Amino acid sequence: MVASISGNPLRAVADRRLQRVAGPCGIVLFGITGDLANRKILPALYDLANRGLLPPSFSIIGVARRPVNAARSVEAAIRKGAQTPVISTTLAQILDGLRMVEGQYNDPELYRAIGATMADVDATRGTGGNFAFYLSIPPSLFPVVTEGLASAGLNRGAPGSWRRVVIEKPFGHDMASARELNASVSGVFPHDSVFRIDHYLGKETVQNILALRFANELYEPLWNSSHVDHVQITMAEDIGIGSRAGYYDGIGATRDVIQNHLLQLLALTAMEEPTSFHADALRAEKEKVLEATHLFGSPAQASVRAQYSSGWQGGQWVRGYREEDGIPAESITDTYGAIALGIETRRWSGVPFYLRTGKRLGRRVSEIAVVFRNPPFLPFPDVAGLGQNTLVIRVQPNEGITFKFGSKVPGSEMRLRDVTMDFAYGHAFTEYTPEAYERLILDVLLGDPPLFPQTREVEESWRIIDQVENYWDAHPESLETYAPGSWGPAGADAMLAAHGHAWRRP
Ligand code: BG6
Repeated sequence: MVASISGNPLRAVADRRLQRVAGPCGIVLFGITGDLANRKILPALYDLANRGLLPPSFSIIGVARRPVNAARSVEAAIRKGAQTPVISTTLAQILDGLRMVEGQYNDPELYRAIGATMADVDATRGTGGNFAFYLSIPPSLFPVVTEGLASAGLNRGAPGSWRRVVIEKPFGHDMASARELNASVSGVFPHDSVFRIDHYLGKETVQNILALRFANELYEPLWNSSHVDHVQITMAEDIGIGSRAGYYDGIGATRDVIQNHLLQLLALTAMEEPTSFHADALRAEKEKVLEATHLFGSPAQASVRAQYSSGWQGGQWVRGYREEDGIPAESITDTYGAIALGIETRRWSGVPFYLRTGKRLGRRVSEIAVVFRNPPFLPFPDVAGLGQNTLVIRVQPNEGITFKFGSKVPGSEMRLRDVTMDFAYGHAFTEYTPEAYERLILDVLLGDPPLFPQTREVEESWRIIDQVENYWDAHPESLETYAPGSWGPAGADAMLAAHGHAWRRP
């Protein structure tokens, strides 16, 4: 293993937690020139190789619609995005295994060429017929590509080898299209060969929710409506939509983030203890809790959407959403979404779960805050500085956990104030924290499914989001605006104030 090579510069990046090494295999990367491939997938593949977690034979077959100098652009993506040092031997290993196939996704010739290239890397590099097809392309093309793979017979390998397909969210844009998509993909690949990536599930801090809840005695007895007042799940970004107009407009913040990332965080926070961490056991608990999840009130009371306007953010003038390149001036796509949900179970009935996400907010932060009830009685004269006990799981940045509780202010009087207890990954561990994509891609290559959402989770999430989106479609006037750098529209504050709550300002 990398860790045992003394004097090797990779020692600094070796990670004991990921000592599971993929066997002989390759990846067929549709959309190798795209934004996601460049920012996340290619750097993650390099980092895995750099840490000795990919076999030397590992090969990448890039698929693109137009000719491209693949070696140059892959190297550039790695240099820009890799978390580990760029080392010439690892770079050479990746580039040696790189092949390109060009063509149109609806052309049968493309799939014949992909098949020939797969056979070639099997013969020359020993990939053993094991391939993951990574569809880093718009969802509308998934059926075209999976059917193309099937008609060329590439979806099934020879006995003893495997074929898997990786699809990226959004898995559809509503329940009906998600079902269609699931049907078309599962018609070609058996369900245990379909890996849906929700990259939040690959984040260390997100997996740590399960450790926190189920490896400790302290929290679980309090994790219910008798003690929890409400829960806030936030994924805020300070950036705008950048050059992603084509993807983003018509999808919006709620479908882009709440339907997948935030509902998965809710499921992990609220689900019952699984009988094991096997994929089926985890999935069963997530499905149950999502099935019990409903809007906390009518769609009008339990949802808010808004768009960022132009203004000053961090000393810089930024354009409003409707002035961004490629966005129609009359667009009503949400760049901010907030919803209030309730979970009808004995554990959670009556506890609101508030979920919010937005672009161009105050700062980039993702967190889950569990806010506890006040004690029934406080025998202290001065409690002005006392808030509610709050456990904050900081997903990013400054990954860790904070617990806020009341303490006596030093001095002769009995004055109370909130203080915090802090756990920071950076202080507690010396291990390297792998990027979410590293963990997830390695799991795909190992055929390890617990971190990938399954059909029913996806459909249950759409059931919740469809109600909100349908209401918004019927009520265009519900769209609010917010200033860049702020924490969202006034309606979002009002939604919580109606229940006597207020958003945290992380
Ligand atoms: C993606 C969304 O899933 O997550 C993007 O499509 C968003 O809009 C991104 O910017 C944020 O990911 P992270 O890991 O930086 O929080």
